[in-house]
Amino acid sequence: MGDRVPVITIDGPSGSGKGTVAAEVARRLGWRVLDSGALYRLVAYAARGAGVALDDAEALARIASGLQVEFRNGRVLLNGKDVTRQIRTESAGNDASRAAAIPEVRQALLQWQRSQARPPGLVADGRDMGTVVFPDAPVKIFLDASAQERARRRYNQLKEQGIDVSLRDLVAEIEARDRRDRNRSVAPLKPAPDALVIDSTDLSVEEVVAKVLEQARRAFPQLAQGE
Ligand code: DC
Repeated sequence: MGDRVPVITIDGPSGSGKGTVAAEVARRLGWRVLDSGALYRLVAYAARGAGVALDDAEALARIASGLQVEFRNGRVLLNGKDVTRQIRTESAGNDASRAAAIPEVRQALLQWQRSQARPPGLVADGRDMGTVVFPDAPVKIFLDASAQERARRRYNQLKEQGIDVSLRDLVAEIEARDRRDRNRSVAPLKPAPDALVIDSTDLSVEEVVAKVLEQARRAFPQLAQGE
């Protein structure tokens, strides 16, 4: 499982800022980043494209095991085609959450995710990075924020992209997605017992990044020496 490669896991609900924090921590350390949510988004997106129902476990697992994915300069390529924009929509997120509730899909993605733990290190972002995929990671973060604040952040992001949505609808969607992610029987969203829970409601990205880096320096002394 690549035990010797340093791994930091960052889990949390949608809109908690995990993606931004994971990317920034990885950048500062010069490590790779795993955006596991993108994998579930891609499975659901590919399923839609192939006319496969999002509750067809067998067909979805087949799609998941054959996924030809590439992360390149912040872009996500599926079978060589840039689908970054298509998989970032609210509906793609909801589709992903549905596909992610299927155990066979999760199983099919497990090895690929673990194979991303390569030197010099990995920052893994998702829902079950600390509980299932990298249970031995020395640094585990669970990043949370109130649903209201998460919806507000998402609202601002969408507005910047010129997309018009209602804040009330976003809060309702975020709460529904959380419910599904937290209550599913397989790999539900929850902090690992040894995770540091950070509530980012009133924190800036920089403040959260600083907290994660502090944990990292403590767990990986080689980092402190290199600075
Ligand atoms: O992080 P995200 O919003 O891109 O994730 C989309 C969905 O994928 C999320 O609602 C639940 C699912 N997911 C998961 O079940 N496990 C992960 N490790 C990452 C995402």
